[in-house]
Amino acid sequence: MIRGSDSHIDTLLRSMTLDEKIGQLNMLTAGLVITGPGDPGDYMAALRAGRLGSLFNWFGWDKVHEVQRVAVEETRLGIPLIFGYDVIHGHRTIFPISLGEAAAFDEALWEATARISAVEAAAEGLTMTFAPMLDVSRDPRWGRIAESAGEDTWLTSRFAEAKVRGFQGDDLTNPTSLVGCAKHLAGYGAALAGRDYAQAEISERTFNDVYLPPFHAAVRSGVRSLMPAFSDFEGVPMTANGLIINDLVRGKWGFDGLVVSDYNAIAELIPHGVAADIVEAAALALNAGVDVDMMGHAYTRGLSAAVQRGLVDMGTLEAAVRRVLKLKAELGLFDDPYRAAAVQRMNDKTRLEHRKAARQAGARSIVLLKNSGLLPVKAAPHCVALLGPLADTQAEMLGPWSGAGRVEDMVSFATGLRDTWPKSEIITRPGVTIDGDDVSGIADAVELARSADLVVLCLGEARMMSGEAGSRARLGLPGRQMELANAVFATGKPVVVVLSCGRALAVTPLIERAEAVLLTWYLGSEAGHALGDVLTGAVNPSGRLPISWPVDIGQIPIFYSRLPTGRPFDAKFRYTSKYLDMPNDPLFTFGFGLSYTRFAYANLKVSPTEFNADDEIDISVDVTNSGAVAGEETVMQFFRDPVASVSRPVLQLTGVAKARLAPGETKTVKLKLRARDMSFSDRDGNPVLEPGVFQIFVGPSAREADLLKADIMLVG
Ligand code: NOJ
Repeated sequence: MIRGSDSHIDTLLRSMTLDEKIGQLNMLTAGLVITGPGDPGDYMAALRAGRLGSLFNWFGWDKVHEVQRVAVEETRLGIPLIFGYDVIHGHRTIFPISLGEAAAFDEALWEATARISAVEAAAEGLTMTFAPMLDVSRDPRWGRIAESAGEDTWLTSRFAEAKVRGFQGDDLTNPTSLVGCAKHLAGYGAALAGRDYAQAEISERTFNDVYLPPFHAAVRSGVRSLMPAFSDFEGVPMTANGLIINDLVRGKWGFDGLVVSDYNAIAELIPHGVAADIVEAAALALNAGVDVDMMGHAYTRGLSAAVQRGLVDMGTLEAAVRRVLKLKAELGLFDDPYRAAAVQRMNDKTRLEHRKAARQAGARSIVLLKNSGLLPVKAAPHCVALLGPLADTQAEMLGPWSGAGRVEDMVSFATGLRDTWPKSEIITRPGVTIDGDDVSGIADAVELARSADLVVLCLGEARMMSGEAGSRARLGLPGRQMELANAVFATGKPVVVVLSCGRALAVTPLIERAEAVLLTWYLGSEAGHALGDVLTGAVNPSGRLPISWPVDIGQIPIFYSRLPTGRPFDAKFRYTSKYLDMPNDPLFTFGFGLSYTRFAYANLKVSPTEFNADDEIDISVDVTNSGAVAGEETVMQFFRDPVASVSRPVLQLTGVAKARLAPGETKTVKLKLRARDMSFSDRDGNPVLEPGVFQIFVGPSAREADLLKADIMLVG
């Protein structure tokens, strides 16, 4: 019998006790990273007793090998384990946080960094990553926006596809492939008031049209696992939501992979108020389609009683076990449990290539928010005052999901600039700490600023101020950083602000006073070098905001793809949609990002102008580099359905193209739009396209004033 074949799995299932079956559904942490309550207990004892199917937070070739050896050689059935980990924005080599990488608007880059992460993680024995994170995020108070690709559904869907391709490759038996896990299905990003783990308040239409499509894209790309969100939809926690998991995702979408709960989420059905005890919680989750219990101990403690109480039938339980075994077979683990070939892929040359990729990814993720001409810095300055609490820190460069990244491997801004300008004097002063109260260092920093040729002020958040459980209600600079900034601005020296953060910050006064602002998110291993590349102009910045950047917190949630109002803004008339004390528009629109050159758009062509629902529409536009240096432009294509049976968003992104242009050069940039990408969901979630006029927009961002427009007509 071929190991891992359906008949092998059938034979295994027949020989398993109930406890062993439940064991396959049990995933425990080895204790390295604990993102919730719960003690893993003695997981080796659980393994030996046949009560463990997967382990997470355990990596390193020898360590994994030894545990796998016990699984294969010392358990009754010899079933190998899956080893999982949160490889979110890198494993050893750390790439920019996802929100930063999203700013590159570059599918090839997203795929490449996921591939590298998989190669590195697999070399340390891992077989599964809990990524990509696909929560459309429109509230920067929610710390997990840092893990996301931002506010847009289309962009997040492309991010989903690229990441799945990168992590999983073409063939899971390839020892460098990781099983991807699309998370968190769905609507977690709508956490009320941006507070993590809070209730999500979403209409069915928004759920279908905004939050679900990235998951559908991941499923279409072949993602082999999914993780339900901690949050609820219409009061039903996603971990117990059979309508979504079983009926929609497995039924309608045809997903036949594994559903893994979030950390302790099955046990949390009790405090959610939908299960009275662990037995009910286990039954609810299993019946909803959740196969694997991550750290909830709910299946091991509750499932056999649930079977006895008649809350769960054996068929449902065995179907879940079969999916676990099937995935292990797809990974080739029955034949090759140690995947030794993955280790051989890593050597010093590969490591160097990975670092090069991190430097490129870093530079491509930086967004130039403001530049009054100070940048790029053409000649090496004599003396640079590198100020602020983020100027000389390696640890903060890791960002919120640090994988297996080592602090000592990160290139701080200080080191990066010393490598960039080896002959310059680069003096650093933190001035203040990120969130402390001590302002005694400000005077020294100001003194230094006065004597320097260039002042680079590195401000922002600490890396753990975003990410999971990293919600903030105030989005200004933490601590006394604004005092430092004001004191430095008061010297009258031109200042470049470098902003490290996992979200949009409400820092309008800071941005107003700076000569130049570079948004660097958390850039990872090569942060300092990437910053150097952009400061000197070796790389002309091309990053664009994947989120709307608010003027202040009161505008939140703010996103470009909003529904029109019956009373659009009119400054002269009170009874229109607006604030009395703040503009409606964000400070920076979705898609905003400057370059060291300028681009002009002309000659939008759309064909055919009359189309059918199955058509692809050809769009082209001439883009000219009208500045003095070469640069890369990101061309965005949006549409609007101005009259439909339901109100449709004022703009929706449906295409992105890149053009690299020499000074003075013009290129015709081509995009393709699938008519069905302009559909919306009816009450049953089916796509609808209604005949009539559709408006096509092309330009550099979602700022309507900058967009070229053409009308086309759906005739059938
Ligand atoms: C909880 C997080 O919500 C999830 O994204 C992550 O994969 C798990 N913890 C495991 O660390």
